[in-house]
Formats: sequence, C-alpha cells, structure tokens
Amino acid sequence: MKILVTRKIPSTAVEQLAQEGREIVVSPFDRPLTPEEIIQMGAGSEAVLSLLTDKIDGEMMDAIGPQLKIVSNYAVGFDNINIPSASERGILVANTPCDEVNESVAEHTWALMLALGRRVVEADEATKRGAYKGWEPGIFLGSLLRGKTLGIVGMGRIGEMVARRAKGFDMKVLYTKRNPDPKAEAELGVVFSSLDDLLANSDFVSLHVPLTDQTRHMINKDSFSKIKRGSFLINTARGPVVDEYDLVEALRSGVVSGAGLDVFDAEPNVNPELVGMENVILTPHIASATHESREAMGQLAVSAINKVLSSQKPENLVNPEIWDNRRK
Ligand code: DGY
Repeated sequence: MKILVTRKIPSTAVEQLAQEGREIVVSPFDRPLTPEEIIQMGAGSEAVLSLLTDKIDGEMMDAIGPQLKIVSNYAVGFDNINIPSASERGILVANTPCDEVNESVAEHTWALMLALGRRVVEADEATKRGAYKGWEPGIFLGSLLRGKTLGIVGMGRIGEMVARRAKGFDMKVLYTKRNPDPKAEAELGVVFSSLDDLLANSDFVSLHVPLTDQTRHMINKDSFSKIKRGSFLINTARGPVVDEYDLVEALRSGVVSGAGLDVFDAEPNVNPELVGMENVILTPHIASATHESREAMGQLAVSAINKVLSSQKPENLVNPEIWDNRRK
C-alpha cells in the first residue's frame, strides 16, 4: 500500500502514516511538485496527502491509478481539487477544518485590520529608515476601530471567530450568509445584511467565503461602486474572490482607503501595482500559519487517510455523500 505526501509538512502526524505494509513517499523537494512529478511519485498510491498548491483534477487522479481512494488536502480550502471529478470516480476528499486553523485565520485578519487602521507597517518602515525626528501631532494618523462597522462576508466558522473578537473592540458587525443565522445573531450580536448593504455601511470589509464559481471575483468594479468611501478591505480567504485590477483602481482613486491581503488572484504572483502602494499590507498566504494550526491540520489530514484505509468514515470529508459508493 503506497501513500504520497506531496511536500514535507510541519506536523508530527506524518509519522502516524507509517504502518506495516505501507510505503510512504514524501516529496524530497522543498517546493510544490509539478503535475508530472505528482503523477510520477504518486502512481500506484491509495492515498495522497496534498497541499493547496497541488492542482488535482480527474486526469491526474486517473494517472495515479484506479487504486486511489482518498485525497486528503492539508488546507481548509479545497478549490485546488476537482471535487465532482473525485466524486464521479468514488474518490474521497478530506480537508482540515479545525479551531486552530479558524482561530489563526481570525487572528491574522485582526492583525491586518489593526495594522491597516493604525498604519503600523508604514510607520515601522519610516522609523527603521530613520525618518522619525521627534514626536509630531500629525504623523501617521490612523482610524479608530471602536464604534466602527465591520462587515463580514461569509459567516462560517472563521467569520464567526472574527466577529467574536469584534466585541472586544466595540465594533458593530454586519454579516452576509446564504440565510440569516439566529444563533450567531443571539450569541455575537451580529446583524444580517445583503452584500450591497454591507459594502455600503462597513468601515472594514473582511472576506471569509470559499472560492467557488459563485464567489470568483464577487468583489469587483460593481462592488467598489457601492462600497463605503474610505473603507478598508481585508482578504484572508482566496485571492480570486477579489478582482485585483478593480481593487487597484479602487485604491488608486481613494474609494478604498487601504487593503490587507494575505491571498492573491494568481498566487504566487502579486500584482506589482499593489506592491507599490503604501496603504496596502501584503502577507504571503500565512493567515493559518501558526505552529498550533499546522500541527492540527497534519493530525486531521493524516487521520482521514488512516481512517479511510481502514474503512472508517472520517468526519472531515468534503464529499461524504459518496461514502457508500466509494472505491474499495
Ligand atoms: C487553508 O487552510 O485553506 C489556508 O488557506 C491554508 O492553510
């Protein structure tokens, strides 16, 4: 029985894959594998532990072979895997939703929000370059968060954790979700809103939707024509949720005061216009990058593989509906 791990991951869990009669192939490269390498190293595998940088489509699943039973993605997002193709073939797909990831992303969202509001990165850069010549009343004036409105687009688990933290900053929270969420409203005091109203009324807009055909470029020129002037946009979800060219235009024209972006439209490429903007904070897709989260993600990804290979149903399947028709 062969298992491919497409890249070394910072988690002790991988050791738990090693069991009698198993061949564990861990990529020796500290970079994403090419599709050809995945096929070459993965051929004959019953399980693949993949990363969000691996594009796994039906053709690749077929090339790995008819024995492939599970692709366990070391990420909450799974837009890198063609789920209908996996389901058609009876291949299970798992992801790694857990509190550690959700909290890490929520904390990073707040880090970006605070840094944007208080111009932390600009001020740090100026201080290090020696520009600080003594206290001045007018330098680096920022925006107070207290009393402002935070708009959370996508009130899933991460959105909720972002909202929970807003209480401590005395912010009002608007949210979008397919349907109103009375439990979240009662617990967190958040207010259901249409996307248009949320954009029109929020001082900070934070995105927490998965990338799907419906959410691709959902924040675009039209959204920026409705957004509150002077607001800030934070994206820790997936880059293509925002049309980056339209965002650049909105930043350039001052419609949006600043942006905190952890994800990009064509990762790892970053739009050079964004790089040149002082009111934009860029981080390299690290919102979930805490020791705690990476370890927990590894545990979930590995346990899904171990369970499927011993015919137990993991909780973290993305396509649990195919369980009865899965490849055996
Ligand atoms: C996720 O889990 O989807 C993050 O984007 C990467 O850890």
